[in-house]
Amino acid sequence: MSVDRSHGGRLELALACDYRIVENRPGARLGLPEVKLGIHPGFGGTIRLIELVGAPVAMDLILAGRTVSPHIAQKLGIVDYSVPARQLQSTVNFMIDKRPPCRRAGLGMRLLDYAPGRWMLSKLLEHRLEKKVSRNHYPAPFSVIEFWRKQGGDRNEMFRAEQDSISMLFNTATAKNLVRVFHLQEALKSPGKRNNRKFRHVHVIGAGTMGGDIASWCAIKDLKVTIHDQNPDALARATRRAQALFRSRLKSRRLVERAMDRFSADTSGTGACKADMVIEAVVEDAAVKQSIFTELEKTARPDAVLATNTSSIDLEKISAGMKKPGRLAGLHFFNPVAKMPLVEIVYGDNTFKKTRQLATAFSVQIGRLPVAVKSGPGFLVNRVLMPYTLEAVILLGEGYAAADIDRAATSFGMPMGPLEMADTVGLDICLDVAENLGHAYNFEIPKRLGNHVAKGNLGKKTGNGFYKWKNGKPVDDSTTSSTENGRVQQRLMFRYFNECVACIDEKVVSNHDDLDAALIFATGFAPFRGGPVNYIVEQGIEQMLKTVRDLQQEFGDRFAPCSGWSTLII
Ligand code: NAI
Repeated sequence: MSVDRSHGGRLELALACDYRIVENRPGARLGLPEVKLGIHPGFGGTIRLIELVGAPVAMDLILAGRTVSPHIAQKLGIVDYSVPARQLQSTVNFMIDKRPPCRRAGLGMRLLDYAPGRWMLSKLLEHRLEKKVSRNHYPAPFSVIEFWRKQGGDRNEMFRAEQDSISMLFNTATAKNLVRVFHLQEALKSPGKRNNRKFRHVHVIGAGTMGGDIASWCAIKDLKVTIHDQNPDALARATRRAQALFRSRLKSRRLVERAMDRFSADTSGTGACKADMVIEAVVEDAAVKQSIFTELEKTARPDAVLATNTSSIDLEKISAGMKKPGRLAGLHFFNPVAKMPLVEIVYGDNTFKKTRQLATAFSVQIGRLPVAVKSGPGFLVNRVLMPYTLEAVILLGEGYAAADIDRAATSFGMPMGPLEMADTVGLDICLDVAENLGHAYNFEIPKRLGNHVAKGNLGKKTGNGFYKWKNGKPVDDSTTSSTENGRVQQRLMFRYFNECVACIDEKVVSNHDDLDAALIFATGFAPFRGGPVNYIVEQGIEQMLKTVRDLQQEFGDRFAPCSGWSTLII
C-alpha cells in the first residue's frame, strides 16, 4: 500500500481490508489528511479507524489530518506490518497462509466507544480543538466529533452520519477554498519540477540567523553544504544550531550524523568555487553584498546560480559590479526557514530567464514553494504586511489594547495578530523595513514604533515591546468589546487588501493565484478564505472598493484606493 495526497481514499480502502502491509520506504506517509481540505475521511474511514486503534489515536490523526511514517503506523496498529520492498511479497504470503486474527482496538479503547466514554472524550477533544481553530472557519473536525458522540456505538448509523456530514461539508466555502489552496500549492511546485538540473552542493555566505538556517535546511534536504562567515564565532553558532535542528527533525542518530557529514563550516570560503548554488546571506548592506558578488563572479563555477537573500535591496544595486548581472537572482527565505514554506524568487530587469528557472527548481528541490516576484522595495510579502502592521500601531496609539487589535486579525483568520508578529520578528527589524518601505511607498510610520526601539524595547527578545512577554508568551491586555472589533478588523485588513491590489497593478507577481498562494504560505492569510484576491472577488470588488473609500473618508488618505481596483478583473 502506498499513500499520497493526490490520491485520496487509499487508506480508507485499506482500512476496509482484513490486513494491511505497507512498504517502509523513506518519505512514505499514512494518514487521513482530509480535514486539511475542509472535509473528513469518507468510505467508512472514520468508523474503521476508531474500531482498529481506538478513538483517542484515531481522533488524534483525523482531527489534525496528521500523517505518520509506516514504522509509526505499525506501532499504532494502523497496519499489521511495515516492511522493506523486498519483503512485501513474503509478508503477504505469510498472512495468506497463517490468517492471523484481524487487529482491533484493545478492550480499554473499545469501552471508550460506549456513551459515557464517548461523551467525556468528545468534550475534551472539542475543548482542545477550540483552542486551535474556530468552529465557524473549520467545521470539519468538529463535525467528526459530533457524529461520533451522537452515533458512535451504532455502526450503521455511524456510516450514515459520516456520509451526511461529508456531503454537507463538500458544499462549504471552507472546503472549496482549502481545495483551492491545495491546487495553488501544487501549481507553485510545477515550474520547478520541469527543470531537470539536480543541485548537489550549496555554498552559503553569512552564518547569521538566516544563513545558518538556510544552510542547515539544505543539509536536511540531502545537499552537501559549505557555509562561510568572516566571523568564526558565527560559524560555530550556526553549526550548533544546525545540529539542534537535525536532532529535532531527523530523530534517528544515523540520519543526524549523515546530515552533519554533509554540513561543513568553511572558514576560508573556498567552497564557493565548487558549489552549483551560492546563497549570500550577509548583513543588509548594499556595498558589502556588491563586493561579494563582484568577487563571486570570478571564482564561482560558470554554471553556478548566484543568489542573494536580501529582504529589501534592489537586485540592480547588488549586481552593479558584475559583468553578467543576469546571473543574480534573489532567493528570499522567511524566518524561521525550517517552518516557513515560501521562498520569493526575486528577479530584476536584467535577470536571465535561466537563472530564474534554476532558482525556482532549487527551491522545489529543497521542499520550499517558489513564487516569482519583481525586484522592488519589500518585494511582495513584506510590502503587503507593512501597512497592515503600521495600522495596528496607529490603533494602539488611539488607545486600543494590543490584544484587542490582534484578536481582530485572528478572528478574521490570520494565524497571529500584527502586533504579536512585530514583537516576535523584533521591533528594530520592523522599524528598518518600515523606514525602507515608508520611503518608497509613502507609508506613515507612527512615532510609537521608533520610541520603542529607542528605549530598547524590541519585543519578544527583550521581554518588552507592544506586549510585555512572560515565559515566551505575550501578556493579554484586552479591554474593548466585540462590537468595536469589526471596524478595527476592517482597518487592518483593508490596508492589507489595498496593498495586494497595488502589487497586482504593478505586476509584482504575474497573476492573482501567485499572490494568493504567496500570502497564504508566507503570512498565513486565512487559508479557508482561499487567498486575499479570492476573498475580494467573493465579497464583490465593488463592495470592497466602497469600504476602502469609506475608510478613506473616515480615517484619511492612507486608505486611498490604489489605482488597481478599477482594473482588477478576474
Ligand atoms: P545576521 O546579522 O544575523 O547575520 C549576518 C552574518 O553575515 C553575520 O554572521 C556576519 O558576520 C556575516 N557577514 C557580514 N559580512 C560578511 C562578509 N563580507 N563575508 C562573510 N560574512 C559576513 O543577519 P540575518 O538576519 O541573518 O540577515 C542576513 C540577510 O538575510 C540580510 O540580507 C537580511 O536582510 C536577510 N533576511 C533576514 C531575515 C530575518 O528575519 N533576519 C528574513 C529574510 C531575509
